[in-house]
Amino acid sequence: MNRKYRKTVIAANWKMNKTPSETKAFMTEFKAMLPKGRWCDIAFCVPAVCIPAAVRAMHETRVGIGAENCNANASGAYTGEIATNMLVDAGCKYVICGHSERRAMGETDADVNAKVLAILEAGLVPIMCVGESLEQRELGVTEEWIAMQIKAGLSGVGEDKIKKVVIAYEPIWAIGTGKTATPEQAEEVCQSIRTVIRKLYGAKVARAVSILYGGSMNEKNAEELLAQPDIDGGLIGGASLVAEKFIKIIEAANQPC
Ligand code: PGA
Repeated sequence: MNRKYRKTVIAANWKMNKTPSETKAFMTEFKAMLPKGRWCDIAFCVPAVCIPAAVRAMHETRVGIGAENCNANASGAYTGEIATNMLVDAGCKYVICGHSERRAMGETDADVNAKVLAILEAGLVPIMCVGESLEQRELGVTEEWIAMQIKAGLSGVGEDKIKKVVIAYEPIWAIGTGKTATPEQAEEVCQSIRTVIRKLYGAKVARAVSILYGGSMNEKNAEELLAQPDIDGGLIGGASLVAEKFIKIIEAANQPC
């Protein structure tokens, strides 16, 4: 973390878990445990049908609610899809895009780029995910692969908008597997992402962009991951479904650094 130059963000990715009623119950429990005073930015990216319950529960707190996906088109014949202006109207602040689970369902780099542009245009914060497979890591092409995902995903994003983008480095082999990247492995890639941003936008911008780590981050390993200079927070799946565990991660992010 480096709070002097950029925001620390702890974001939950609930994936396909919890109903609206469960969301309401979770938020009531979570709100009662939320540390008072100075804390990092907190986001809950939840299933679309849970957004209203989450927004209602977190009204008048600094906790932001987000979606797990969006469609890049403004409106039209896209059955089952959700446009960014709908998310704005529903009270969202964040949208995840480029998650490896969606890439596995066919989301391409061009799709991710179109979504990033649409999310920014709507005034929302994109949490753009990138990450390598185990095969790519073993082949030694991690940094090149991620540089390509970053460049493609941010194509056409101007200097006025880039500071709003949050990047999440999520090695595919660490997601939901209990196999976390070591703090050194995670730092190495997050640092290389910052270098790519520096080459694209300059040093000042690179210093200001928040880069998160995701992949089996939990209440036990959060502190050492967040102690790395280029890891500005986390995107948390499994451990964000239990209020107590998620609060511990937030507390780790609130440590002085
Ligand atoms: P995990 O998921 O924390 O359950 O590994 C992270 C993610 O996919 O965003």
